[in-house]
Amino acid sequence: MRVLGIESSCDETGIAVYEAGFGLRAHCIYSQANMHSEYGGVVPELASRDHVRKILPLIQQTLCEANVDKKSLDGVAFTAGPGLVGALMVGASVARSFAWALGVPALGINHLEGHLLAPMFEKEPPDFPFLCLLVSGGHTQIVLVKEIGRYSLLGESIDDAVGEAFDKTAQLLKLGYPGGPALANIAERGDSERYRFPRPMLNREGFDFSFSGLKTSVITAYKKLPDEQMEQEKSHIARGFEEAVVETLVTKTQRALEAAQVDRLVVAGGVAANKRLRAAMIRMADMSRINVFFPRFEFCSDNGAMIALAGCLRLMAGQSDTLEIRTSARWPLLSLQPLA
Ligand code: KG4
Ligand code: ZN
Repeated sequence: MRVLGIESSCDETGIAVYEAGFGLRAHCIYSQANMHSEYGGVVPELASRDHVRKILPLIQQTLCEANVDKKSLDGVAFTAGPGLVGALMVGASVARSFAWALGVPALGINHLEGHLLAPMFEKEPPDFPFLCLLVSGGHTQIVLVKEIGRYSLLGESIDDAVGEAFDKTAQLLKLGYPGGPALANIAERGDSERYRFPRPMLNREGFDFSFSGLKTSVITAYKKLPDEQMEQEKSHIARGFEEAVVETLVTKTQRALEAAQVDRLVVAGGVAANKRLRAAMIRMADMSRINVFFPRFEFCSDNGAMIALAGCLRLMAGQSDTLEIRTSARWPLLSLQPLA
């Protein structure tokens, strides 16, 4: 089965062709980050309009790079949620119409399911069950993945998602948008001992997170500085913030692995690209005899490949949508159907 995947939930237009038995034929990503950087964050209306502009040329380019004719597609998968409703509607309308014109099934895919299946592209993909730490701009969740579509939520952020905390802290430090990679970059030069920010909720039971208090501590520390020191202290503050986030994520994940008694861990979503987080997770996994899996860097952030893959698995199991164009700004993983 050969599937076209379309991702348009936020500020990336992602298109891919995935084929069962072959793998990924091609994928293209267009990022709107430059356009949104002027405003310090994603402007939903601009995002939708840019998806409209880019989606058809990008589909053409991906089919061309995959060297496949559109008539050879067996299905079209698209991100149906969670995400920005206008942006989702662009991908969903194009996907649904394209599938109808080709006479093939279309299927709306949950974006979070796409993220947690992204390590499946690697040479040694994880077997089920595994625990997934899903860390993106919109979500921070610890999910037990029994199999595709059978998920249990062990913990989540009660306020800001971790990517959002990175972005907001970066905005405070005037590092531009998207903030996560920029903050991680200057943290490289920072002294890890200079600022010790709180490790939120570590002394509480359970696997929930909270990042808004940490953000406030960073703001307070930064605003206390005399003007002439602000610039030189940025990298140390960034490093202190990153250390606090990483330690919190690693400690809670380790506890969840013990409680769930699974020895496989997937770390996925945009923040999984963070090098310090990856290194700390690998150290923890080595000590706890856990196998840890990450998507390759380009598949941590939003992309069409993960949607095409999830779509192919579900379409092969016989699932498909009606002609109705279905999107959902909120769509919890727990409400998904198992594969068969
Ligand atoms: O998964 P994703 O592309 O979009 C959502 O589904 O939200 O995640 C984007 C988030 C942004 O908040 C971005 O700042 C963060 O991932 N991010 C990072 C890094 N690269 C991306 N955060 C920390 N370190 C990074 N290297
Ligand atoms: Zn995402």
